[in-house]
Amino acid sequence: MLSAVSPSVGAFFGPQPSILSNILYSDVNFVLWRRNLSSFIDAWASEIRWERTETLEGELDRESLVQFEEDLYGELKKWRTREPDLTRWVASDMCENIRHFMDSTQAQEVFVKVEPVFTDMCRLFHVDHNLLRMLCTYVGQGTLWLQNDRVDRHYLGCGENKDIVLDPLAIYQAPRLDVLILKGERWVDNLLGGAVHRSPPLREGEKRLLLKVDYLR
Ligand SMILES: [Fe+2]
Repeated sequence: MLSAVSPSVGAFFGPQPSILSNILYSDVNFVLWRRNLSSFIDAWASEIRWERTETLEGELDRESLVQFEEDLYGELKKWRTREPDLTRWVASDMCENIRHFMDSTQAQEVFVKVEPVFTDMCRLFHVDHNLLRMLCTYVGQGTLWLQNDRVDRHYLGCGENKDIVLDPLAIYQAPRLDVLILKGERWVDNLLGGAVHRSPPLREGEKRLLLKVDYLR
């Protein structure tokens, strides 16, 4: 696994949360904190009552995070009633990751979405027209990212994946519970353009649970 890569690739990977602040460099558009926790969540994920799940979202600042963690725990408990300690861990891990995102990007306010996903909503490789977005997949397959120097940007937004992807071996899939930040097209300090990514292809009946955090200001 790469710990740091060249500016043409524009990405940093590392085992410490401090890796996340590299997203602020103008020649970086993707960072990933490798946590090596992916199997930890299996027991929790296997007992979710998916018919009870719903998207939870809201705008948060630092002061509202503590209350959000309590509210989130209360909601997640409705989705999975046994072993509340595991559910408490998930709620507090989500909030810890939101804190890491705010610390590393100096965000004062963020938009948070905890989203059950039942379809591969964004199948095409694309860039987001936003500022910065953190993603962490808690259940199911992680987001796919395409190395920056293996993209044909002419086809973004108008072509198929076979046109956009110059080298399929340059596609990386984030493991569950790893934390990634994608730089969007609207971030001012952005020499490379937005990070190119897509949702993983899902089989019939496959599900994901995604934490999505957008930088607002
Ligand atoms: Fe996207």
